[in-house]
Amino acid sequence: MASSPFIIVAIDGGAASGKSSTARLLADRFNLLHVDTGSFYRHLTSELLRRGVPHADLPALKSALSGLHLATRLEGRSARMLVDGQPAGDEIRDQRVNEHVSHYAAIPEVRETLLGYQRGQVEVAKQHGFRGLVMEGRDIGSVIFPQADFRFFLHADPVERAKRRAAEGRQDSIAERDRLDSSRKTSPLTCPAGAIDIDSTHRSLDEVFALMAGRVAPALASA
Ligand code: CDP
Repeated sequence: MASSPFIIVAIDGGAASGKSSTARLLADRFNLLHVDTGSFYRHLTSELLRRGVPHADLPALKSALSGLHLATRLEGRSARMLVDGQPAGDEIRDQRVNEHVSHYAAIPEVRETLLGYQRGQVEVAKQHGFRGLVMEGRDIGSVIFPQADFRFFLHADPVERAKRRAAEGRQDSIAERDRLDSSRKTSPLTCPAGAIDIDSTHRSLDEVFALMAGRVAPALASA
């Protein structure tokens, strides 16, 4: 009997484009590990701010990063990153982190710190018996897993995205984050060649999920 394939699904897109909601649905439908890499950047940002390490102070930043120990804890189907044994708190979604995260995320040393950790989630998923993983972020299909089985890129009109975030009751600087994320030199936010581009502006969450699930299902059906 053929052994079950392990699949990697990458979802990239700008702020509040619907990545997390669709990734969670895919994880539940297909028994995939859900990896929200934005939460990793947010967690590191929160920790560096707590320690008073500014993004512009490269020597202090490097020294802080080199001392960090990253591990993973599973919560349901989601991978939570532990920094020195600690999970992220609710503050990673606050305006302070929203304002700073793209500045830290633009620094190559910060990205390098998370690169191996993110790729290592494949092993975590395998060890826990998942059929694959769905990883969301900005550079998953371009840098982290360019050979992913499925690479989706979500677009949505900025006005619609701002409405979605406001509906969550959260203050966010999505236009400014998009500007910084798209213009940085290292791993900018961009739709990689060959990725499946989906405009979610006039599509419901269910419709976007159905589009993605329709692509993924056949790959697992043969197992
Ligand atoms: O709030 P939203 O879900 O749109 O963003 P997020 O996915 O939580 O990501 C927060 C920030 O982390 C982004 O604005 C990027 O600056 C950074 N990020 C990144 O640079 N690369 C990733 N793979 C994921 C997030």
